[in-house]
Amino acid sequence: MRAPFAFLAALSFAVASSAFAADGAAIYQDKCSACHETDGSGMPGMAPPLQSALWKKLGAKSPAYFAAMVLNGSAGASIDGETYAGAMPTWSAQLSDEDIAAVGSYVLHDFNASTQVVTPADVAAVRAEGHVDAAKLQAMRGGGAP
Ligand code: HEC
Repeated sequence: MRAPFAFLAALSFAVASSAFAADGAAIYQDKCSACHETDGSGMPGMAPPLQSALWKKLGAKSPAYFAAMVLNGSAGASIDGETYAGAMPTWSAQLSDEDIAAVGSYVLHDFNASTQVVTPADVAAVRAEGHVDAAKLQAMRGGGAP
């Protein structure tokens, strides 16, 4: 009976470790890809691309804007001169700081070849500020226009 025990031990280890390390790619495919597409290219008229010159422009300010957008959601904003019929949901109750950090780092690294990382502390700092309204989000984005 040694083999089944080893199998179960390995399985429970895999489950336990995945509960601790948030998987940005898995969170993205599960929660974000329906609107932003699996490769972050967005959906014309529905949701903007997450593969965008924005992140290079924002540089070190990327984590704060990413966290503020994901925690607060948004609808009807002008994004690089476009408006979208879809609405960006508020994820503050569903996603932890670790989850948002993981999905943010995934978007920046995998879709934008950025070395910028989003840390749980970046997200916690934005969460601690409370509600970020549409005007402040636009200002953090750099006014909407590139
Ligand atoms: C129901 C569709 C939908 C889902 C699901 C969704 N988004 Fe969005 N997202 C939008 C829309 C629409 C906007 C544009 C907001 C506006 O029009 O005001 C947006 C905007 C954004 C922006 C700002 C982009 C920019 O150029 O300023 C980011 C970042 C973002 N979403 C990340 C995410 C992440 C990460 C997830 C998954 C956790 C996600 N979104 C899930 C629809 C969605």
